[in-house]
Amino acid sequence: MNHQIVRTGSAVLLFAALVFLVTAPMQAQDAGALFKSKCAVCHAPDGSGSGAMGKQLGVTDLRADEVQKQTDAQLNDSITNGKGTKMPAYKGKITDDQIKGLVGYIRSFAKK
Ligand code: HEC
Repeated sequence: MNHQIVRTGSAVLLFAALVFLVTAPMQAQDAGALFKSKCAVCHAPDGSGSGAMGKQLGVTDLRADEVQKQTDAQLNDSITNGKGTKMPAYKGKITDDQIKGLVGYIRSFAKK
């Protein structure tokens, strides 16, 4: 039995396990950070749209029923292709997975 190989093997396994443990919860956090950096200018950090910019543009309150009763596909479409004249399309600016994460994050507004 070559101890060097066994030790390297377990180090790789341990590393893989660590990467998994660290990145799994980070996806949820990423969506929150992304929302705050890209969307909160208009939608406010809590999704209410209560900031100066939100009021000026007349953004919808993302916590409201009219938004929350929409399907994930509809919200995804609003983010991907934009909505009305003022909601920018994010297609190609962020990944599809990031958009999915943002839809999930918008869902979390309703539970507060
Ligand atoms: C430049 C300001 C601005 C930015 C930045 C912005 N939005 Fe919007 N958003 C709007 C406006 C204005 C509307 C309302 C559009 C309408 O209904 O005419 C809207 C609508 C939406 C809707 C649809 C709500 C509904 O009524 O159906 C979703 C979902 C949404 N935004 C998500 C996001 C996400 C996620 C981001 C960040 C990736 C983002 N927005 C960034 C201005 C913005």
